[in-house]
Amino acid sequence: PAEQRIEVLPDLESLSQRALEITVEQMELALAARGRFNIVLAGGSTPKSLYERLSQEALPWSAFHVFWGDERYVPPDHPDSNEGMARQAWLDHIPIPAAQIYPMPTFLPDPHQAAAQYHQELLVYFQSLDKPTPDFDLVLLGMGPDGHTASLFPHTPALNVTDQFVTVGEKEGQPRLTLTVPVINQARCVLFLVAGANKQAALGQVLTKTGDPQAYPARLIQPDETLIWLLDQEAGLGWSDE
Ligand code: 6PG
Repeated sequence: PAEQRIEVLPDLESLSQRALEITVEQMELALAARGRFNIVLAGGSTPKSLYERLSQEALPWSAFHVFWGDERYVPPDHPDSNEGMARQAWLDHIPIPAAQIYPMPTFLPDPHQAAAQYHQELLVYFQSLDKPTPDFDLVLLGMGPDGHTASLFPHTPALNVTDQFVTVGEKEGQPRLTLTVPVINQARCVLFLVAGANKQAALGQVLTKTGDPQAYPARLIQPDETLIWLLDQEAGLGWSDE
């Protein structure tokens, strides 16, 4: 990355507040340059506090276009749904036009068909902006204790897919949809939110660039422009701003 930053915050709440500041900064850059903000949401639990903070802000919501980086293969009303979590914490409480929220289609019987459909949706959307491939303004990511990110799990075929924007990931036999590595790396800014002592070991492998990327997929995330890691003290023990 042209710019890589590591920031260690005392706790999840201060990490989420900092993530809000960075999200708004990236939004302002995107609006000034292109009049819209294309953001990719992370799933899991860490980003929920950021989404709740966003729901309290008065931002130019009509300029937001919201996508997901990955999704469990469940309906949005399922407790595991990343879409459901983001809607309950944030999107249901602010006036982003419904047509500017692009959930991953987990209602199709075949996850491969769903991945192809979301790929096509992204292709058409970015072609409408005269872009041949997605160049998201901000991609939010988490990281699992095993070093996975989005639904790019260790030693899975999804890690090496480069000819599709979206592919099928797999966690313990359960299908997931995930953006592929090249799409994430073409983002203008990638922001990792990582909290909790159970992330410490994987973080060490990833940030020291020693872990095998197939074993620690977060290592594959090397955007050309900006990569920011927000860590809480438990996960980021010993790390400080580089
Ligand atoms: C998901 C996420 C996944 C998540 C990590 C961290 O669908 O679960 O996209 O990549 O970011 O597993 O999850 P936590 O934030 O819950 O620790």
